[in-house]
Amino acid sequence: MLNSTDLAPAVAAGLALGALVAGAAPLPANYDEDKVPAYTLPDALRFASGAALSGPDQWPRRRAEILALLQDQMYGVMPERPPLLRYETRESGPAFGGRALRKQIRIWFALQDQGPFIDVLLYLPSTGQPAPAFLGLNFNGNHTVHEDPAIRLTESWVREKNLTGRPVVNRGNRANEESRGADAEAWQAEYLVSRGYALATAYCGDIDPDFDDGFTNGVHALLPSPSPRPGNAWGTVCAWAWGLSRIMDYLQTDPGVNPRKVAVMGHSRLGKTALWAGATDERFALVISNNSGCGGAALSLRRYGETIAHVTSSFPHWFCANYTRYAGREQDLTFDQHLLLACVAPRGLYVASAEEDRWADPTGEFLSLRHAAAVYAFLDAGTLPATERPPVNQPVEGLLLGYHYRTGKHAVLRYDWERYADFADRLFGR
Ligand code: GCU
Repeated sequence: MLNSTDLAPAVAAGLALGALVAGAAPLPANYDEDKVPAYTLPDALRFASGAALSGPDQWPRRRAEILALLQDQMYGVMPERPPLLRYETRESGPAFGGRALRKQIRIWFALQDQGPFIDVLLYLPSTGQPAPAFLGLNFNGNHTVHEDPAIRLTESWVREKNLTGRPVVNRGNRANEESRGADAEAWQAEYLVSRGYALATAYCGDIDPDFDDGFTNGVHALLPSPSPRPGNAWGTVCAWAWGLSRIMDYLQTDPGVNPRKVAVMGHSRLGKTALWAGATDERFALVISNNSGCGGAALSLRRYGETIAHVTSSFPHWFCANYTRYAGREQDLTFDQHLLLACVAPRGLYVASAEEDRWADPTGEFLSLRHAAAVYAFLDAGTLPATERPPVNQPVEGLLLGYHYRTGKHAVLRYDWERYADFADRLFGR
């Protein structure tokens, strides 16, 4: 997994983007709690007009208002489901010594085999029953999720060096056998199957390669924005989230999956993505943010660790152009990330932080969830049983809301999956 760093994150990510161009000095980051400025969060339970919500029946209208604001100012406008989706099962067979069925499905957006596609890898427990599922995008290709030799190598552009997992070199930006299973530890596929869960995953680069190409490749090419590109045109995080919804479209058709029990999960940039997908698409019964940080669960107004200036200069393609106006101007925000989390209410929501991941601001991730919890309470949907960030390795979990702060690095570990499966078991009544 990427190392958190005091320097511009592009150094850690091996990317020469934004802040590092032309010798620009890396932006400093604050890690001193005493230097967090005083701030007032926008109230989730008041309309933009200032009027307080009179009761739970007004929440859908407030949620729509928040989503419109986040689309316009941060993630960009998410296109509708395209009229044509075609699912091609390219391979299936027994896996994990017969304990699972592996399926590899290609989602096409045209009648002909052309244009962008999303290759979905699905492991279904061999129970004969529709299974609850975890769905998440992966960083480096489906073949990195498990050593299973039957997983097809991704055909899409990949980074020369994998961002997460075991270090591997992808010569010519093409995947090769060397990276098979490189990210297996972060996915725990056999463990999840042993817990009775299906695992569905796809490579984020199938949906949109993670570099700033002016939005000409991936699904941006399929659903182009008007020219000149408006300030609220969708960025890469939004494209990835849109892709998660298209995979959900598929999962609703697969008899091996219980579509009412699908958890969308993501780590880091893909945690930001899981949150945006979960906020916008109410089919996800549980939304899990693993170390999502700035632009994900963490409150931007705290300006702790990574800030809007860092993320928009290092990764200018992740958000819509309008978002850059808040770089160094957080005081102008009329929203913060607790509102994003609140849009998941009253569905399941779990936020996880890691002690060594100061770049992602664990306290800001916790506080964001705590403020979103006010909406759950308002909707009579329970609350988060903690007002302060808990000590390490002591998860706090209500029925719908959960949080943990584990020891260790910016990563997805077995510990995280154990918490997610336990939480999902309770939520799904298993
Ligand atoms: C960088 C970036 C983070 C992001 C992370 C990742 O560190 O600054 O915002 O979450 O990469 O995706 O691993």
